[in-house]
Amino acid sequence: MTTHDAWEKIHSSRDWGAYPTEYVIRFVARNYYQTEREKIRILDFGCGQGAHTWYLAREGFDTYAFDISESAIEKMKLRLEKEKLFAHVQVMDGVRLGYPESFFDAVIDSACIYANKVEDIQKMHQNIFRVLKPGGKFLSFVFGKGTTGYGTGTLIEPDTYEYMTEGNLPRIGYAHFFEQKEILRMYTEVGFKSPTIDLWTYTDNGNCVEGYIVSGIK
Ligand SMILES: C[S@@+](CC[C@H](N)C(=O)[O-])C[C@H]1O[C@@H](n2cnc3c(N)ncnc32)[C@H](O)[C@@H]1O
Repeated sequence: MTTHDAWEKIHSSRDWGAYPTEYVIRFVARNYYQTEREKIRILDFGCGQGAHTWYLAREGFDTYAFDISESAIEKMKLRLEKEKLFAHVQVMDGVRLGYPESFFDAVIDSACIYANKVEDIQKMHQNIFRVLKPGGKFLSFVFGKGTTGYGTGTLIEPDTYEYMTEGNLPRIGYAHFFEQKEILRMYTEVGFKSPTIDLWTYTDNGNCVEGYIVSGIK
């Protein structure tokens, strides 16, 4: 199933994540709370139903967001409207990112990029590098091979699976499971300076989640 069809199926049939995650709040607070917020342009990359878009708009940043799923974007637009918040939102595929060069102060990927095949993942990293201003920051959350579900379902390419039979990740759509050295290689190839990787492991309903919180600077 294509990435679009898988996620459209998910977003059209259920609600997904209304509130922001701690690692995004920490990144934004550390880097941008003490600024003139309306002048800081931040992109929520693969925003889903907009938990982080909502947070960024509410905190006063110049907020942009997109997702491949029409239903996700529709749900988010309704929520923003209802709460009288504003963000520039649209349906788009992250592989074909349509923003100008050097446009954003920061790009945040909260578990979107992992849901793609490796070739597209690296295209997305290149796109993000292009749209960031020099000195701009990228934050990404991806899953490691210690996450329950890795090794189950249909193997699409090395370390990328579909129709997983275990774990908490969606069972439809692709999931690529990373290793630290792969992340470092990808970021370095694209040109990010001093990438940092923090490990966040926890269990959820008895399933393991091995998360990498990665940040890089253009
Ligand atoms: C796990 S959800 C995370 C959503 C959101 N970032 C959050 O934190 O709530 C992954 C999202 O990535 C989107 N996505 C996956 N691949 C994409 C792509 N190539 N282009 C745009 N969006 C994509 C999906 O539609 C889905 O909404």
